[in-house]
This record gives sequence, C-alpha cells and structure tokens, in this order.
Amino acid sequence: MARILGIGTATVDIINTVANYPAEDTEIRAIKQRVCRGGNATNTLVVLSQLGHHCTWGGVGVNGPDGQLVLAELAHYAIDTSPCRIWGQGKMPTSYILLNQQNGSRTIVHYRDLPEFSFNDFQRINLSTFNWLHFEARQVAETAQMIEQAKQQYPQLPISLEVEKARPQIEQLFTQVDVLLFSKTFAQYYSHANQAELFLRSIHSQIPRACLICAWGIAGAYALTPTGDLLQSQAFPPTQVVDTLGAGDVFNAGIIDGLCRQQPLAIILTQACQLAGNQCGREGLQLIS
Ligand code: ADP
Ligand code: FRU
Repeated sequence: MARILGIGTATVDIINTVANYPAEDTEIRAIKQRVCRGGNATNTLVVLSQLGHHCTWGGVGVNGPDGQLVLAELAHYAIDTSPCRIWGQGKMPTSYILLNQQNGSRTIVHYRDLPEFSFNDFQRINLSTFNWLHFEARQVAETAQMIEQAKQQYPQLPISLEVEKARPQIEQLFTQVDVLLFSKTFAQYYSHANQAELFLRSIHSQIPRACLICAWGIAGAYALTPTGDLLQSQAFPPTQVVDTLGAGDVFNAGIIDGLCRQQPLAIILTQACQLAGNQCGREGLQLIS
C-alpha cells in the first residue's frame, strides 16, 4: 500500500436535502440536514485511506468546533494531519449545499476566508516518507513552488494534480506533474468544446509525457496515455442516484489507487468509474465493503 500525501482543502459541508431544486426568491424546507467534513483533497484521501493506503493531509484549519469536526473525521479515517496549519482565528472554509432528492444533484455555495496552505508550510514536510503526492490546482504560484521542490528533491516521486476550476496561469502547473485529473467543467472552459477527446489531445500536444484523465459525469471518463492512446469508460449509475457530492473526488481516489497498484490504465479507468458510480447511490464517503 502506498504512503500518500494530499495537499488541498478540507471544508465544513452543510448539506440540506431538498425535495426539488427551488426557484429563486422562494422559501422551502429541507427534508434533512447533514453537517460533515468535505473538500476535494480530503475527500480523495478519505477514500484512499479506506482502500488501504496510508494517507497524510497538508492543508489549513482553524481552532474551534468547525476545525475539530474536520480533524476528528480525518482521525476517524486514520489520516495523519500533522503537517496541517491551524489558525487561531478565521472561519473554516464552508460549503452550503443543496442536495436535490429527485436526481442527487448538488449545488454548492462556497465561502472561504482563510489563508491557503503555503509553500512555507509545505517545506516543513519530510517528503522522503511518501511514495505518492497529490495536489489540488488552487493558488497557482505557491503550488508551482511546491511541485518544483518535490520534483527537484525526489524526481521519482509521482505527482498527481487535480484541475477542477479555471484559474489564471493554471497551465504552468501542468508541466512537471505525472498525472493530470481534469474536470469536465475545466475541459469545457479550456477547449470551448463539449468533447473530452479534443480537450485531452490539445493538452497532450503541450504536455506529452503526462497521463491525462478527464471525468465526464454520467458519460463516464476518458484517459489519454503518453503514447497518445485514448481510453474511455462508461459510467456505472446506481439503481437510484442519491448523492453526487464528491463523485469527482472519489473518481480521483480510484485513479490514484489503481496507479499506485500499477494496474493497466484501462482497468483503472473502469474501476474509478465503478467506485464513483457506487458512491452516487449512497450518502457520504463511507465505502461499503
Ligand atoms: P464532479 O463531482 O467533479 O462534478 P463528475 O460529475 O465528472 O465529477 O463525476 C466523476 C465521476 O463520477 C464520473 O466520471 C462518473 O464515473 C461518476 N458519476 C458522476 N455522476 C454520476 C451518475 N449520476 N451516475 C453514475 N456515475 C456518476
Ligand atoms: C465536493 C467538495 C465538497 C466541498 C466542495 C469544495 O467535491 O469537495 O465536499 O464542499 O467540493 O469545492
């Protein structure tokens, strides 16, 4: 099993399940409310930990009940949080989420007012103990420094990068990583097309040595190998779609898990879609064995 370091966010997710998605300027009651930890990097680590990997999180939190909720859940999944930076003041990044009971869609309003995990914080981590690094492509300048340092010190250490949202200069993060995990939203924004293959081939022409992955919601997912072979997997919808929150994070965990196990990419892609599809059939990120 791999020792995996994930750098990125943890959030407090306040999830209101609603019978239907509301119209603007109306008032409705939630059927149910759940408050739990979320955040892309920590979601991915929570799944990886359940798949048997030793996971460590580098990110930011705050003193107080919200910060404790996050750390307690990560401790429950045996995730080492020792590198994280805990602020005395501020608010834990918080997502206010409407989960539509009709179709499992999730609509997220995110509020953040806390400094990001910095290059300084990252430099305190002893990278020699890890055999996989995973980053969220967030604050570009600092993340670029982290990736650069990791590659300089440990050129053999594989790095994956999750690219979910468009951010200025984000492409500068692509050149040094081994695996790029793109969202459909980013692909559509970047290539102005609704076609995963077109998008992946345009990235491949710039970054030919990386393994490129792109999740495509209910249409499954695509991968482009460094040799230019396009792979595709269907999605695996559950009998009833209950909760699509974090499907992309679960999918990413499936990809990293398969790569750590050195499985063939076509199999990895299918397994990751199966893992994410199963997830959509239940609430939360607790895997069922
Ligand atoms: P995100 O959560 O980042 O929006 P996607 O919607 O692209 O990510 O979903 C990631 C993966 O989760 C997809 O590749 C697919 O395999 C799976 N998935 C997402 N939505 C569904 C769904 N409704 N039914 C089955 N699988 C799904
Ligand atoms: C799901 C998620 C939520 C979080 C939000 C942050 O992918 O990580 O858990 O609130 O996205 O953008």
